[in-house]
Amino acid sequence: MTRVCCIIFLVVVEFLWILRVSRGDSQVSCIFMERCILPCSFHGSSEPVVHWIKTEANHYVHSYYAQQDQLATQNQRFKSRTSLFKDQVSRGNASLQLTEVNVQDEGRYQCHTSTISGNKEMVIILNVDAPVRKVNLQQVGQRITCSSEGIYPQPNLTWSTNPSSSITNNNTTAHQIDQQLYNISSSLILPKSDMDLNYSCAVSTRRNRRRATFRQQGLVTESQSDTTIHCSPSHTPVTNLIWRFDHSQIILTKTDSQYTVSEEWKQHVKDVSESGSLTLQDLSSDQEGTYTCELADAVETKITNILVKINEGNSSNVGAIVGVVIAVIVVLASLVTLLVLWKNQVKRHFTHSI
Ligand SMILES: *[C@@H]1O[C@H](CO)[C@@H](O)[C@H](O)[C@H]1NC(C)=O
Ligand SMILES: *[C@@H]1O[C@H](CO)[C@@H](O)[C@H](O)[C@H]1NC(C)=O
Ligand SMILES: *[C@@H]1O[C@H](CO)[C@@H](O)[C@H](O)[C@H]1NC(C)=O
Ligand SMILES: *[C@@H]1O[C@H](CO)[C@@H](O)[C@H](O)[C@H]1NC(C)=O
Ligand SMILES: *[C@@H]1O[C@H](CO)[C@@H](O)[C@H](O)[C@H]1NC(C)=O
Ligand SMILES: *[C@@H]1O[C@H](CO)[C@@H](O)[C@H](O)[C@H]1NC(C)=O
Repeated sequence: MTRVCCIIFLVVVEFLWILRVSRGDSQVSCIFMERCILPCSFHGSSEPVVHWIKTEANHYVHSYYAQQDQLATQNQRFKSRTSLFKDQVSRGNASLQLTEVNVQDEGRYQCHTSTISGNKEMVIILNVDAPVRKVNLQQVGQRITCSSEGIYPQPNLTWSTNPSSSITNNNTTAHQIDQQLYNISSSLILPKSDMDLNYSCAVSTRRNRRRATFRQQGLVTESQSDTTIHCSPSHTPVTNLIWRFDHSQIILTKTDSQYTVSEEWKQHVKDVSESGSLTLQDLSSDQEGTYTCELADAVETKITNILVKINEGNSSNVGAIVGVVIAVIVVLASLVTLLVLWKNQVKRHFTHSI
């Protein structure tokens, strides 16, 4: 009994296997705008005929016979984008190379080969991915907006906080732009004075996932002392670092271990550490404001806002007081002098008229 079962099982498996192989539905994943190879092989022979057809629309993609490409019937969408490996066709390699892959190229392709020894068909399913490249987080007032561009297929966007809390006010929209890629964005209103939450936004597709994290800190410092402000720690090598002031002014950028400090900030930047920490010097109230560290590694962008408040040191306060006192004395002295002069004048005028 069990033996019969087993045999039936094996026959079914065998049958499914044959079906799969004969239909040859292999999947190929291609990256948007890159080069891609659709595999196809047959028993080599000297005079092969090869036709590549996109089956849904019955578009001719590429044909080859009489030992050369035959492109008279080629669909315009594939013009100048297809090629075979010519030196290998007679050896049974009919793989198609497709360049500048776009979303419309997705679908079923049939590779039809025939030789004197017989015909063969293979089906390739082509999937296109435009992976998530960068997730941006931008703060304007109390609103933070997370966005990412040029993605396919439609991505998902999720917010989270650390420590976890429920997020209301999220506002996710995905639009399909030209070439069927997606832009996605979502914004969130930050609760006032909430310095202790870290916010993360993750954008994912079937191909990959990238995250951006935002946190906010406060720091009070003295104008005379050197001040070091820190980025979020990173576990993988940092590929990109930007320090900004008040959301717009760039203080410094780092790419491939090369730092560039902007002209206006040269006098204030004392040092930058390996992990991105920035040491500032000679600060005055003009440098009071929001410092933003944007640090990117292979999977994550980390954004840290540091609200820096600067206390003018004691000695300058003393100076200010001394200045005010001197000013008051000078004003009083001149008033007294004027008064004395005026009195004398009045007196002289009086005696004169008598
Ligand atoms: C056909 O040749 C190309 C180029 O050498 C190679 O990349 C590909 O793997 C080959 N395909 C098959 C099915 O042999
Ligand atoms: C968006 O906010 C609603 C509540 O307003 C919440 O139920 C939902 O989980 C949030 N979605 C995401 C992706 O954070
Ligand atoms: C949601 O998006 C709309 C349009 O982009 C905007 O007007 C609205 O203020 C947003 N709401 C929140 C809570 O962010
Ligand atoms: C998608 O993002 C790109 C890059 O920021 C922008 O140029 C384009 O206008 C956006 N498209 C839509 C429909 O929002
Ligand atoms: C996106 O979200 C939907 C619904 O929550 C889920 O079914 C789908 O698998 C998600 N896709 C990715 C790529 O995470
Ligand atoms: C926020 O993130 C930083 C670094 O990523 C971490 O040191 C800090 O503990 C986090 N804050 C909270 C409240 O989890």
